[in-house]
Order: sequence, then structure tokens, then C-alpha cells
Amino acid sequence: MAKKKARAAGTTARASDGIGIALIGTKFMGRAHSTGWAGAGRFFDLPRRPRLLLAAGRDERETATFARRWGWEGATTDWRTILADDAVELVDVATPNNLHAEMSIAALEAGKHVACEKPLAATLDQARSMAIAAKAAARRGLRTYVWFNYRRCPAIAFARRIVREGRLGRLFHVRASYLQDWGRAGTPLLWRFDAKVAGSGAHGDLNAHIIDMARFVTGEEFSEVSGAIEKTFVAERDLPGGGGGAISGKGGARSSRRGRSTVDDCVLFLARFSGGAVGTFEATRLATGNQNRNQIEVNGEKGSLRFDFERMNELLWWDDTLPSALRGWSRIMCTNAGDHPYAAAYWPPAHLIGYEHGFVSECADIALDLAGREPVAPIPDFADAYETQRVLEAAIRSARERRPVAIREVR
Ligand SMILES: NC(=O)c1ccc[n+]([C@@H]2O[C@H](COP(=O)([O-])OP(=O)(O)OC[C@H]3O[C@@H](n4cnc5c(N)ncnc54)[C@H](O)[C@@H]3O)[C@@H](O)[C@H]2O)c1
Repeated sequence: MAKKKARAAGTTARASDGIGIALIGTKFMGRAHSTGWAGAGRFFDLPRRPRLLLAAGRDERETATFARRWGWEGATTDWRTILADDAVELVDVATPNNLHAEMSIAALEAGKHVACEKPLAATLDQARSMAIAAKAAARRGLRTYVWFNYRRCPAIAFARRIVREGRLGRLFHVRASYLQDWGRAGTPLLWRFDAKVAGSGAHGDLNAHIIDMARFVTGEEFSEVSGAIEKTFVAERDLPGGGGGAISGKGGARSSRRGRSTVDDCVLFLARFSGGAVGTFEATRLATGNQNRNQIEVNGEKGSLRFDFERMNELLWWDDTLPSALRGWSRIMCTNAGDHPYAAAYWPPAHLIGYEHGFVSECADIALDLAGREPVAPIPDFADAYETQRVLEAAIRSARERRPVAIREVR
């Protein structure tokens, strides 16, 4: 591709001391990532601060408005132009799942680092091609990152530390569920209900997160998945007429036509881990009354821990080594600078952080990693996210073939 500068709504991106970022996708995650890139250099001491160069979307006016509002120096409606911009060092992919492979691989081939949204891809084949491209690009010094942002909740990064310190002892159970309820019959047929675009429904969207969290917190890999159930309750939905909220489509226009949902509304499965623990996993968009209930509990021989994103600043902890009279669930507020991961970057104790801080912390960790420094918590790269994708695939095979599936079968 010709090396020409991307022209952007009146601005031409220039090289600078900052890390030049270009974002593709300007809606829900586009907003979250913009908040992250803008905040990282303010909250964290970074060797090089991210610089918000270019935002790429589809609609010219909308993308230009987004860029102005969220602090991007320029805007484009042709994402490929950013590949030719020498000032862009990292391409941030925040588009629907079926576009991740094409955009990420093109960016790597153009010599850019890539931070891609989860799930890594819509299909295992796409995910594998991304892992292969990332491996080749790593030989040219290029880094890849995947936005499994829940790793960067202080409580989750702290849970991992507790497990690594051996405070739970041998692990017996992982109990993870990610429950949402926006996918009821009134929600229109957004891209999230189209298997060609999304790959799957609640499964790739939500199970991907809790699979990654389970791997991250326990430090163990999945060895087998069994007993999976994949179910679609809402077979047909109104076609969206445009506009509306990014996830639920609420407030958008409706067409009088209807179309088929081709994805699951929920997927449940059982799992075995490399260290001998067993686990249960459940993802659904129809858990009425649970809006973003991303939960994980780990039970070990010496203690247990419990996390619920709807109370994201807290980690519940049971220390079974205490005298029995003193045992009980402790509610740890994970906001103490010096004690809890990321807490030093934000506010005084119990001055709570929210959803967006996970993205700020992820952007800071990426900037540290690019400078050769240790991120606060490890960031999954494409090879790591491919392992999560293999577990997703194993669960679907288990559901459709009604049998246990060893992870080593899924390549
Ligand atoms: N990490 C998380 O917690 C989290 C949360 C929500 C979504 N996601 C993931 O983020 C990704 C995006 O989801 P979203 O909720 O932001 O979706 P969205 O529908 O809100 O936004 C998608 C964006 O992609 C843009 N887009 C689509 N095709 C494009 C193209 N060819 N060129 C340029 N832009 C294009 C759209 O215009 C839109 O701006 C998905 O992979 C999703 O799974 C992750």
C-alpha cells in the first residue's frame, strides 16, 4: 500500500513523542477506548503518553462529530487510510467481531501494533489466522493486545494475586456466570444477533470474558468442556431501522419487517482445569433483573473468593485458616494505594472507580508494555486470546455433539 498520510477532517496526523493511536469503531467500545486513551496519561506516569490521532467510522458526519467530542485529532471513513499513516503506531480495533481478523492482520502487515476487542474473532479459523499473523509480526517487534478489560478491575487483579500467593491452596471449584437481560424479545435484530457478524450470541460476547477471567485468576488452563447447552429463546426480532442505544438498540427506529436471530441467547457448560479444579460457566442475555452481573467464585482448600462486577470495587474473601469462630466472608474494598492493583493511580480509599477505569488502566498497561515496562497485570495477546477462543469452540462442539470435548481436540 502506498505510504501516504491519512487526511482527516481538516487535520493531518503528525509524528510526535506520544504513541500515535488510531481507533476503528466509534460507538460503545469506541467511547470506552477513547476514555481510556485520553485518561491513561493523566492518571498514570507513562514514559510516552497515548496520542489520539485518528478515529475511523462509517458515516462521515457522525465520525467527525465523534472525533471532535472524544478528543481525536482527525477522522476518516476509510479505515485503510490509517495504515498508510506513519504517525500511527497502534491500531485499536473496536468493530463487530467478523471484522477483527481483516483489520488486525492488515494493521500488523502495515507495521502497526494492534489492540483488538474481544472475542478475538467471530470464528476459530479467523482467530487462528490472527494468532499466526501476530506471531509473524512479533518477529518484527510488533505487539498485540486484546481488550479483556475485566482483568483490570483492581478486585480481579487482586484475586489473581491471592491465588498466586497460595492463599486458597489447592483449587476445587470455579463458578462463573455473566448474566445480562437486554436481549429480550423487544430488542431489535442488531449485529449481535447475526451469526455471520458476531459468530455467536451471549457465548462469544459474555462467556469469552469469564473464560478469560477464570484463566487469569486461577492461572490454570481449561483441559475439557462438557455438558454444554446452547439455546435460542427469541427466534425472530424486528429489523432495526437505525439509531438507538449501542447494545440494546433502545430508542432506535424499528422497521415493520422481522428477521431470524442466528445466535444463541444463552450457553452453559461444565469444565475441567489443568490443575484438577472443575468449573461451571453460564452466559445469558435473558437473565431478567441481572444487567451486567459478571461473577466469579473460586473455592480452594484454604479459602474462597467471590467477585460480582455490579459491585466492582469489592472482593469477597473467606479465610478458612482462621479459627472457626472468626471465619466469615470479608468484604475487601480494593481501593488502597499500595495494597491493591491500580488503586494508586486513582482516588483515596473507598472513593470508588467505575467501568471506564478498566479501559484507562488497560491503555496505561499497553503504554507501559510498549515502553518495555511491566504492565500492572498481564495483558492477553492474540496467542492468549486464541486459547480462550478454543474453549469457546469446545463448548459449542460439546453442545452440538452432546459429548465432552478435550481442549487438545480444538486447534
Ligand atoms: N470489552 C468489553 O467489555 C466489550 C463490551 C462491548 C463490546 N465489546 C466488543 O467490542 C466490539 C465492538 O462492539 P460495540 O459494542 O462497540 O459495537 P457497536 O455496534 O456499538 O459499534 C461498532 C462500531 O464499529 C463501526 N464499524 C462497523 N463496520 C465498520 C467498518 N467497516 N469500518 C469502520 N467502522 C466500522 C460501527 O460504525 C460502530 O461505530 C465487538 O467486538 C464487541 O464484542 C467488548
